[in-house]
Amino acid sequence: MSVIIEVNGLTKSFRGLKAVSDVSFVTEEGAITGMIGPNGAGKSTTFNMICGFYPPTSGTIRYRGQDITGRRAYEFADMGIARTFQIMKPLGNLTVLDNVASSAFFGRHRAKDLRQAREIAAETLEFTGLYTKRDVLAREMGTPDQKRLEMARALATKPDMLFLDEVMAGLNPTETEDAIALIRRINNGGVTIFLIEHIMRAVVSLCEKVIVLHHGEKIAEGTPDQVMNDPIVMEVYLGTGSREDAAHVEN
Ligand SMILES: Nc1ncnc2c1ncn2[C@@H]1O[C@H](COP(=O)(O)OP(=O)(O)OP(=O)(O)O)[C@@H](O)[C@H]1O
Ligand SMILES: [Mg+2]
Repeated sequence: MSVIIEVNGLTKSFRGLKAVSDVSFVTEEGAITGMIGPNGAGKSTTFNMICGFYPPTSGTIRYRGQDITGRRAYEFADMGIARTFQIMKPLGNLTVLDNVASSAFFGRHRAKDLRQAREIAAETLEFTGLYTKRDVLAREMGTPDQKRLEMARALATKPDMLFLDEVMAGLNPTETEDAIALIRRINNGGVTIFLIEHIMRAVVSLCEKVIVLHHGEKIAEGTPDQVMNDPIVMEVYLGTGSREDAAHVEN
């Protein structure tokens, strides 16, 4: 497999506080890669830098060999990259269908008019299991459906690579299983996935490789089995980590 994302020495300081510190890793084309770590570890900040929401303080980001450091968020859909946000950002007063249709105007295979955008949206909603809710206003949906809608909006841009930031947070076990199945289906369709997740069951069942952050630093990398048995990772989660961090592992 070839490398799709390569970051080197990625660092982000917010007013002197290092949220991400000298992080380097690669992710493979076609794979599902995971990123885990306690609250505040710098996971979302790492995604935000890779996806162009914050410029890194230092370090470089390559996508398929090309240096994309400093590219802006709006350029990413054209590169075939899509993401979800940890805090869902639906267009609350639009229907589910039109939320997804509005995303279909972005990306390399973007819709040329509203009719085509709604066609793409309808297909995406069928794929993600939201079709029966197409006429519901986004703000009237609960967390599980809003998480799914976030994924549908990202998928409507027809990405090659999808970044998922805690799309299973707040889901019950059945909904989590559904989300795992959906992510696997997206990946089987040829989309490379990079996901941040606290639900270890999902990480173990989906990810070939996992990167672990703690206090902004990469502390481990390997298969789910390798990182879960890594003494430093175990100490971070169970030893010196907070009770809340330990609870995440039990998920
Ligand atoms: N825009 C910002 N301005 C200032 N500080 C920030 C900003 N974004 C994140 N931080 C800080 O950077 C650190 C890392 O935050 P980040 O959101 O990346 O963590 P995370 O690993 O995603 O945590 P969680 O699991 O809770 O989502 C935290 O200390 C956070 O308070
Ligand atoms: Mg986060």
